[in-house]
Amino acid sequence: MRTGVKNILVAVTGGIAAYKSAILVRRLKDYGFDVRVVMTKGAQAFVTPLTFQALSGHPVHTALLDSEAEAGMGHIELAKWAELLLVAPASCDVIAKFAHGLADDLLSTLYLATAAPVWVVPAMNQQMWSAHATQRNLDILRQDAVTVVMPDAGEQACGDVGLGRMPEPEYLAKQVDAYFKQPQLLQGQHVVITAGPTREAIDPVRYISNHSSGKMGFALAEACVKAGARVTLIAGPVSLATPKGVERVDVVSADDMLEQSLKHVNSDVFIATAAVADYKVEKVASQKIKKTGDTLNLNFVKNPDIVATMAKQSKRPFMVGFAAETQNIEDYANGKLVNKKLDMIACNDVSRGDIGFGADDNAMTVFFAQHYQLSKRILEKAPKTQIAQQLVSAIADALRG
Ligand code: PMT
Repeated sequence: MRTGVKNILVAVTGGIAAYKSAILVRRLKDYGFDVRVVMTKGAQAFVTPLTFQALSGHPVHTALLDSEAEAGMGHIELAKWAELLLVAPASCDVIAKFAHGLADDLLSTLYLATAAPVWVVPAMNQQMWSAHATQRNLDILRQDAVTVVMPDAGEQACGDVGLGRMPEPEYLAKQVDAYFKQPQLLQGQHVVITAGPTREAIDPVRYISNHSSGKMGFALAEACVKAGARVTLIAGPVSLATPKGVERVDVVSADDMLEQSLKHVNSDVFIATAAVADYKVEKVASQKIKKTGDTLNLNFVKNPDIVATMAKQSKRPFMVGFAAETQNIEDYANGKLVNKKLDMIACNDVSRGDIGFGADDNAMTVFFAQHYQLSKRILEKAPKTQIAQQLVSAIADALRG
């Protein structure tokens, strides 16, 4: 079920596929969305604003410094009005502008000014699609939490054959509808997630850490927001953009992560995806350690166990742990489930190169504490965004139980 009329801001950029956007607006209206349209100068060379005005039932926005349009709905107001910015077709030029934060026209300014999710639907010549610069810019957009809808392959308007065709409007409108109908499995819940590695200082210039990229935890944060939760993300040192709607707290060491986590003992769900360093140096040197001998001995002491400490609190959230194992995966994961007094644990085999640390994909086995009477779930290899959605379903099932 989708609740209420949703506002879709369709942005049309210059490309022959702009004609398909007219049908897209029509289909979105059929689904009951309120649609407004922004056109770049290039788009207007292919289709007139009047076409989109007639189809959307609203004046079309074309210029940043247009006093008449600003008097109707200013660009900041428009950016706030949007519940989804759908850029279709998205040209190489607009993708590059978004990737590099330019704001020299209405659309690029709206992109920076909106808090709404952004989908780009690239449509271009197959050679332009495969150009390194285009792919590099799309990677930047993905890191900035933009959804990139893959183009179709086939014969192109220019006669080339390959990837770069804009998907059919019916398909895109259906995806948008499905996106807004996602079940709100964690509606009203406060979810706290730890993500990424921790960094334990040795001296002012050195530290020990691990290969966690934070991708799994950030994907979970995004999935929980989409499922209606309020999300606090306690992130170790990672270079990922904060998913829309997530409150992020940056930390460095395990001690910092514990301190921030303990502020949320009253939350509803705690998910520990972070790869916390098990040990820290007993005494951090205040000056850079000089290279004096052939060997260097450092004494390590145990770090606090964040998830176990949270689980010991008298009023504790629903506790979800992760287990990164290289052997005896199920046994070790179940041991952690019991010893750390968790409600659920998701384990991954980090001896594989294609999943786990740093990878875009993961595969997991999920176990629940015995009293939930839920059987284990095997989540087959899939992008971390999909694994995250499946984990949200597993959490929601256990919470219902
Ligand atoms: O970040 P990515 O590159 O996307 O990779 C994802 C991941 C591989 C890091 C993730 O899927 C994962 O497995 N996270 C858990 C890593 C880990 O530290 O596992 P562990 O088996 O050592 O710890 C078990 C649980 O205790 C974890 O929930 C961990 O967060 C928690 N823990 C561990 C030590 C500690 N001192 N405090 C903790 O809270």
